[in-house]
Amino acid sequence: MNRKLRMGMIGGGSGAFIGGVHRIAANIDGLISLHCGAFSSKPEVSKASGEALFLPADKSYTSFEQMIKTEAGLPAEQRMDFVSIVTPNHVHFEPAMMALDHGFHVVIDKPMTFTLDEAKALQQKVKETGLQLLLTHTYSGYPMVKQAKAMVREGKLGKIRKVYVEYPQGWLSSLSEKDGNKQASWRTDPSKSGKAGCMGDIGTHAAHLAEYITGLKIKEVCADINIVVPGRLLDDDGAILLHFDNGASGVLIASQVAVGEENALKIRVYGEKGGLEWRQEEPNTLLVRWSDQPMQVYRTGVGYADPLSSFAAHNTRTPGGHPEGYLEAFANLYRNFALTLQGLQNGQQVSAEALDFPSVDDGVRGMAFIDTVIESGQSTQKWTPFIV
Ligand SMILES: NC(=O)c1ccc[n+]([C@@H]2O[C@H](COP(=O)([O-])OP(=O)(O)OC[C@H]3O[C@@H](n4cnc5c(N)ncnc54)[C@H](O)[C@@H]3O)[C@@H](O)[C@H]2O)c1
Repeated sequence: MNRKLRMGMIGGGSGAFIGGVHRIAANIDGLISLHCGAFSSKPEVSKASGEALFLPADKSYTSFEQMIKTEAGLPAEQRMDFVSIVTPNHVHFEPAMMALDHGFHVVIDKPMTFTLDEAKALQQKVKETGLQLLLTHTYSGYPMVKQAKAMVREGKLGKIRKVYVEYPQGWLSSLSEKDGNKQASWRTDPSKSGKAGCMGDIGTHAAHLAEYITGLKIKEVCADINIVVPGRLLDDDGAILLHFDNGASGVLIASQVAVGEENALKIRVYGEKGGLEWRQEEPNTLLVRWSDQPMQVYRTGVGYADPLSSFAAHNTRTPGGHPEGYLEAFANLYRNFALTLQGLQNGQQVSAEALDFPSVDDGVRGMAFIDTVIESGQSTQKWTPFIV
């Protein structure tokens, strides 16, 4: 295969948030083109959205069912290669399963599904079909997060003992779901978001980041889950004590009522020999602390005598001092997914760096995280086992 991969988008119509980010991210490296879409549950909005993106009229579908069935019936050289699902959580499973059933790879945003059972069914289907599934946990795409992961994996920090991960946002500090905020309205509706609000929306990102960097698995949790804004139906705040499978302990805080905060995701990891700190709002910097020498400041795109890991280098596009941020991190997920699909289709060996993107297994863990923290939040028992 020596051509761009063809993407069919589900969701992401006019007025949507993350669909536009996915399109930019898919475009950055020139490996993927937008081929078709079912951009909205409303056929006329889907058509208008496709038109605004200059798609041919017959490539804007009126439903995802129509898109998947029609594309599957086209000759191989004309049909899409994968779908990208950027709908609210309750419209994740059905299109993902249908796409896999029709032989298409899947990109899907987090949380992967509405329930843990659905996530497990997707995992089984991915295994049976051998198709690829990329789960867009954005933060694992940053070069300095890759560097942090590599340093832990190489044992530079020693055995990990402590993880602090916090994700404060302020945008749901008032009842904005009642003021016509589209993104707030489905996120706070249990029939569309799922069992959790804040913990599903951003708690899953924090949990994934902690497991991704440390390579550890959360084993049990003790959660305090809150609805702070009166009248809201799902959690908008919470704090969770964590136990990891190597004996390390941690704290995860996620809140959408931390007034004035934008997207202040931050993680600190401490081992026996050293610690590290990364902040999403200053993503090109990784701080590394030692007990016996001054703190080090690693920066994206800068050459050092002891070079950055191949994983950080592979996911860096520009020389130091040219900030790479959210869109590039998102693009790294798409690029690695595309390189993996190309490599597999061409019978080539796919590099470990390209294969390093969140998968269906991470999606199952994310859904188990939601179930576990909500159960723990309602329980009087101190620790709740994390069962996948
Ligand atoms: N990775 C991240 O950092 C990140 C950030 C934001 C959102 N998300 C996730 O992305 C998903 C979408 O979030 P959003 O904020 O963009 O939501 P949104 O409400 O802004 O957009 C959802 C889009 O899906 C469309 N849609 C709904 N039902 C549909 C259907 N049956 N067929 C086709 N289109 C349909 C809507 O019309 C809309 O265009 C959610 O699962 C969310 O958790 C992830």
